[in-house]
Amino acid sequence: MERWSINESAEIYNINNWGSELFSINKKGNICVHPSPNSKHSIDLRALIDDLIKRKIKPPILLRFMNILEGRIASINRVFKNAIQENNYPAKYQTFYPIKVNQQRQVVEAITKFGKKFDLGLEAGSKPELVAAISLATGNGLPIICNGYKDTEFIETILYATRVGYDITIVVEKLFELEKIIELAKKTGITPKLGIRVKLSSKGTGKWATSGGEDAKFGLKISELIAAIGILRENNLVDSVSLLHFHIGSQITKIDKIKNALIEGTRVYVEMKKLGVNLQYLDIGGGLGVDYDGSKSSYFSSVNYSIEEYANDVIYQVKNICDEAGVDCPNIISESGRATVAHYSVLVTNVLDTNTQNIMPDYESMLEEREKLSPTVKKLVDIYQSIDRHSLREDYHDTIQLIQEAVSLFNLGYLNLSDRALAEWLCSKIIRKINSIVERIKPIPEELQNFKLSLRQTYFANFSLFQSVPDSWAIDQLFPIVPIQRLNQKPDVLASIADITCDSDGEITSFVGENGRTKYLPIHKIRSDEKYFIGFFLIGAYQEILGDMHNLFGDTNAVHITFNKKTNYKIDTVINGDATWESLKYVQYEGSKVLKTVRDNLEKSVASRKISIEESSHFLELLDRTLQGYTYLGE
Ligand SMILES: Cc1ncc(COP(=O)(O)O)c(C=O)c1O
Repeated sequence: MERWSINESAEIYNINNWGSELFSINKKGNICVHPSPNSKHSIDLRALIDDLIKRKIKPPILLRFMNILEGRIASINRVFKNAIQENNYPAKYQTFYPIKVNQQRQVVEAITKFGKKFDLGLEAGSKPELVAAISLATGNGLPIICNGYKDTEFIETILYATRVGYDITIVVEKLFELEKIIELAKKTGITPKLGIRVKLSSKGTGKWATSGGEDAKFGLKISELIAAIGILRENNLVDSVSLLHFHIGSQITKIDKIKNALIEGTRVYVEMKKLGVNLQYLDIGGGLGVDYDGSKSSYFSSVNYSIEEYANDVIYQVKNICDEAGVDCPNIISESGRATVAHYSVLVTNVLDTNTQNIMPDYESMLEEREKLSPTVKKLVDIYQSIDRHSLREDYHDTIQLIQEAVSLFNLGYLNLSDRALAEWLCSKIIRKINSIVERIKPIPEELQNFKLSLRQTYFANFSLFQSVPDSWAIDQLFPIVPIQRLNQKPDVLASIADITCDSDGEITSFVGENGRTKYLPIHKIRSDEKYFIGFFLIGAYQEILGDMHNLFGDTNAVHITFNKKTNYKIDTVINGDATWESLKYVQYEGSKVLKTVRDNLEKSVASRKISIEESSHFLELLDRTLQGYTYLGE
């Protein structure tokens, strides 16, 4: 076996750059998860998965590392605390977790528990999210900010919640909403707590740039803002407005875009104060990005700044403008979702198979009967047998041309199936030979640099891309994917990762590599006697809730884990993934009815002796087991 070190694995998957010191490789060659950056404590991911499987929890398994979640909340608050101290900022910072990023009750409950000492609040953007936030705020005074479009029922619910003591700020997104709020405030006699979202001309970057700028969907234009202040004053409600909000998009990749928005947003804040609006909070929205590919660049899967730089810029810019204008500095709120929850969750699943056939005919011996081969195949055999580093480029070009020729001859009826198979096999053998030579020569000839793609195999893994990493399909988002074992061995295969949906889009062909995005994942040849797992990292934000049920693959099993000094880890809770009957229920099938219909029909087959009673009950048993079981594959 070729010598290979875990450091080389860390490099080819770029772990040290995207991992935020939370993920590393141990001496056994397994991925480790640390409770906090660089902590000497760690959980061996492979050992953990083996333990979970012993507990009959089947892959795919979504692992939620609760200490990481707690640590992220603490880090964001710590960097703001430091920036406030360094800049002598005279007001405070608060995070409002936007629950759209992951609304799972257990997750939001944990976030509110960890965030309590930082006065963390929740942001809700729809009626169902409001109800979820109210349920979590009940009994503990958690503040809530309500964004998004609102109808009468939505506003009335907030007003009555306010009356009974909930701390909810209604953010006005549109002028017509304001009219409704005023009407309902008068009708109920309840004074609302109000915020206004302003549409800045500053835009973010990347995929969500259209959330900012004058054409943005949400917020009041400056001219509408002036009108809103007038309307509020006429209705004696101007003193109810305490918050100004803007949001220029998620995953803002460039710090200068954030600075521009801060300058413009704070200018609006100070001008509103000068107009007599009693503002106390500046809510700078989300947008704090995550370095998914570890490139620290302004590429859209990365960010060119750290959370420290973000916090420093926020505090510095706001203070600077307020001081210049002689206006008191606001309390600052950020609605950081992605940066809070991306890191703590990892999906682990098993690789099922590859498209490399192990049971190939003995093509090698067929080459010996040269006289039986077609001229095209003979030429490929000659290349295969004579290739060396001096003929590399020419041989590569000839091979590509000959394989195309073989396909054309086959289509015209001049090449039989067995010769076509032989040509295909020879081509892959030649490409492999070229690869083994190319790996030893430097510099690699230019046209050979991309040829590795022709070596790419497909590895099939037990998951649905549409359910677990939908953004990789929808917007080409990069997520780090890494085998969780054998990282002390050289990965000998280049692969794409296909899921188990019946959709050709269900395949990942872009990966985080040593030098940015690559079109293949280095991976190991799977041995017949081993279970081989891969992990999808940084998937805690948006993926779970945006995931859909393509092919009726449902929610995956989820396990909440905390670190434990004595036992290494502790399982806090296991949330079962959807059973088949639950997935079917979404599309209006009822498991019991399905069973009954099939059973009634089976009796007819038994009566007409098409099947035996034993076969009929075995079939029903199988159907029942499938209905009760996991939607993913068993082995
Ligand atoms: C109004 C608002 N706040 C906060 C967020 C969360 O943004 P992020 O996940 O980038 O922190 C979003 C998402 O786009 C949003 O629309």
